[in-house]
Amino acid sequence: MSRRLHIEVFRYNPLDPESKPHMQSFYVNEYDSMTLFIALNIIRDQHDPTLQFDFCCRAGICGSCGMVINGRPGLACHTQTKDLPEHIVLHPLPVFKLIGDLSVDTGVWFRDAGTRIEAWVHNDHDSFDPTQEEARMENALANEIFELDRCVECGCCIAACGTARMRTDFLGAASIARVARFYLDPRDERNVENYYEVIGNDQGVFGCMGLLACEDVCPKHIPLQDQLGIMRRMLALHSVKGILPKALIEKLAHKGCCHENHKS
Ligand code: SF4
Ligand code: SF4
Ligand code: FES
Repeated sequence: MSRRLHIEVFRYNPLDPESKPHMQSFYVNEYDSMTLFIALNIIRDQHDPTLQFDFCCRAGICGSCGMVINGRPGLACHTQTKDLPEHIVLHPLPVFKLIGDLSVDTGVWFRDAGTRIEAWVHNDHDSFDPTQEEARMENALANEIFELDRCVECGCCIAACGTARMRTDFLGAASIARVARFYLDPRDERNVENYYEVIGNDQGVFGCMGLLACEDVCPKHIPLQDQLGIMRRMLALHSVKGILPKALIEKLAHKGCCHENHKS
């Protein structure tokens, strides 16, 4: 027999001076393969057309439908109600600007982070020549870069991060993994010093407390833990260059770093 779900939703419209933050209960009959996204659509269609939440692809691709589901950030379209208890509590993702109810503005946050980490290939070429042959890249390296490029900027890892919750200037795991992607890319001619300037501080790798909630909630299973470790180790070794003997630095670098690239 199908369950009757009790879905409790955070309601608040910051643009309405009369609106006060509160929780509202809705009841929906569950059916096979129902996702939370479908349940929310039923609520909006049949109970309250003013309910705000975001979606676009319904397939875990656009990253729009992130929300806190029973205390854990996740994608509504990626979450089947059968995996949740009968009582489901939904909040908007923290850290990001609230638009209303379950809808937040992740775009402004990621745009700002992308600007701060300079998330583009840096090189000396003055202009783009469309007639030039494409730069060749080994398949294995291209796959390694692609693995980090799968981020859909849903914001779940940022919302789950204790540091990001406490400090609005923290770049978060998604941004650090993005820097790691450029560090791997041979077309990006920045050296370790350049990356250090971008994330070798408290807003970047040294602000991370390493509890790894980010990787636990990432719906794309991006290896955030590895990237945080690799970047932190590489930049920490860079910061003690000139203090520790060269041979010891080389030994430590060889021991822990699995990224092989030309940058030093
Ligand atoms: S490991 Fe670092 S980035 Fe990930 S959730 Fe913890 S503090 Fe945030
Ligand atoms: S790293 Fe994962 S959780 Fe974080 S924004 Fe990208 S897809 Fe979402
Ligand atoms: S609607 Fe696109 S990820 Fe959920």
